[in-house]
Amino acid sequence: MIRQLRLASGLVMLAYVTTHFVNHSLGLISVQAMDSALVRIYQYWASPLGGVLLYGAFAIHYSLALWALWLRRSLKMPAAEATQLVLGFSIPFFLTDHVLQTRVADTFYGADVGYYANVPHTYFVDNPLRGFLQLVVLVVAWVHAMIGLWFWLRLKPWYRRWQPILYAFALLLPTFAVLGFFEGGRQVMALSEDPAWVAQLAQDHPRAAPADAAILDQMVVWVRYAFVAALLAVLAARLARWRWERRRGVIRVSYPSGRVVQIVRGVSVLEASRMAGIPHASVCGGRGRCSTCRIRVEGAKEALVPPAPEEVKVLRRVGAAPDVRLACQLRPHADLRVTPLLPATAQASDGFRRPGYLHGAEREIAILFGDLRSFTQLSEKKLPYDLVFLLNRYFAETGHAVEAAGGRIDKFIGDGVMALFGLDSGVEAGCREALAAARDMSERMESLNHALIHDVSEPLRIGIGIHTGPAIVGEMGYGSAVSVTAVGDAVNTASRIEGLTKTYGCELVISEAVALRAGIDLGDAPRHEIEIRGRVERLVVRTFARARDLPVPPRGAAKKMERAAAV
Ligand code: FES
Repeated sequence: MIRQLRLASGLVMLAYVTTHFVNHSLGLISVQAMDSALVRIYQYWASPLGGVLLYGAFAIHYSLALWALWLRRSLKMPAAEATQLVLGFSIPFFLTDHVLQTRVADTFYGADVGYYANVPHTYFVDNPLRGFLQLVVLVVAWVHAMIGLWFWLRLKPWYRRWQPILYAFALLLPTFAVLGFFEGGRQVMALSEDPAWVAQLAQDHPRAAPADAAILDQMVVWVRYAFVAALLAVLAARLARWRWERRRGVIRVSYPSGRVVQIVRGVSVLEASRMAGIPHASVCGGRGRCSTCRIRVEGAKEALVPPAPEEVKVLRRVGAAPDVRLACQLRPHADLRVTPLLPATAQASDGFRRPGYLHGAEREIAILFGDLRSFTQLSEKKLPYDLVFLLNRYFAETGHAVEAAGGRIDKFIGDGVMALFGLDSGVEAGCREALAAARDMSERMESLNHALIHDVSEPLRIGIGIHTGPAIVGEMGYGSAVSVTAVGDAVNTASRIEGLTKTYGCELVISEAVALRAGIDLGDAPRHEIEIRGRVERLVVRTFARARDLPVPPRGAAKKMERAAAV
């Protein structure tokens, strides 16, 4: 709820700042345009409801910022977080003068600021220092809001697509606002040369009486003191808490590298990592939204406070195992051992919804192996640069064929490729996808050979083998080399089937189980019964001189064959 409140109150204030900036931008047209827009905009913001919304949002946001500062056990944080924090706490300090001298003076001290004629006169003619500070607060507030927005939005799957538009908005609006502010000021400065205009301005928009103005000036000072005092009080309270908690003893958090970090109660594991300078992913800045800080936890049960519902929701989203927790939310009560599950360079996409099988599951899938023929001879005749170029063209074509069919590249090994199909779509669809990928690979190979006709002495040839069966799938690897892969008998068999393309001198060999599962009639494609090392039963395979000659299943045939296979 606190998170939602902070976000909602921040969005209300962002809406206000945005309308304010749009209003400023109109200074590029004229001061009159600014004024007439202001009348419309302030119909809402100056209404009782608008006032409650805006000042309520400020009070909530500021109080929650102090609360968040109190909750933080460490002030070590990435630069973006630190910038947001510092800018956020400086906004009220800068803004106090503007709010008291306009809104409060208007409402309680009989002034009529009349905004766009009077305010630029104050800021550009009477007191340029105030004008400069006002400009600073515009930039400070906007940067603070944009960092907050970035922390929130970059966790959305659509963010990457909209990023250029959002960046353009984030840059252009304040730029136009500042330019409009200056242009409005320039126009008012020109008008101020005329004493009659200045006299009329003073008459139309009276300021607070001198005694009231002195009270307002004094209030500015006291309100600023109050903001600074609130901040210092929280910092002092944190210090006192730290000392008191240290007396209650320390907790040891152990990391896989052997490092042991001593913390006091109440410090989160993410804060422990930051305090010790241990790189730890935290895309959302420790707000419990992104899941990239997730850790595997081992230790006594009493070390762990059960996760809050919000944490459970985030962990469920990524299909986390029961011993996984969010490092930014876990504040251990006793010694424990933790293993960060993502590299420190993890991206927001690592926190998106993830299939449950990533932590290990048995799945029936289709496995495709592909291999370039006569690659060794080819590589002996080529310069390294040419060879890398050639291989990358081949990998690109293969990768496109696999992905276009709905499969997933498992790995490229030397001149070979391993791909998985049906991880999400099921084994029947996976088999059809694998066959479609093989057909496409063959066609792409032909096109590639046309394109490389002057670069290779003889056409590139490929051997493809496809098999289906149960395999253990999951995310495996180490550090940045972690990927989804599959292991098991079916994978080994698929690899051996691919090797048979040499034996039979053909481009594609598939096990009959693949055709059956795919619901495809292979007609009179040659049939062989083979022995596979380690298997008791003989395996029936079908061969194709060219994979692109594979028959395409007629519409509806797949379903019929699936039913037959099920029977
Ligand atoms: S840092 Fe984002 S959930 Fe912990």
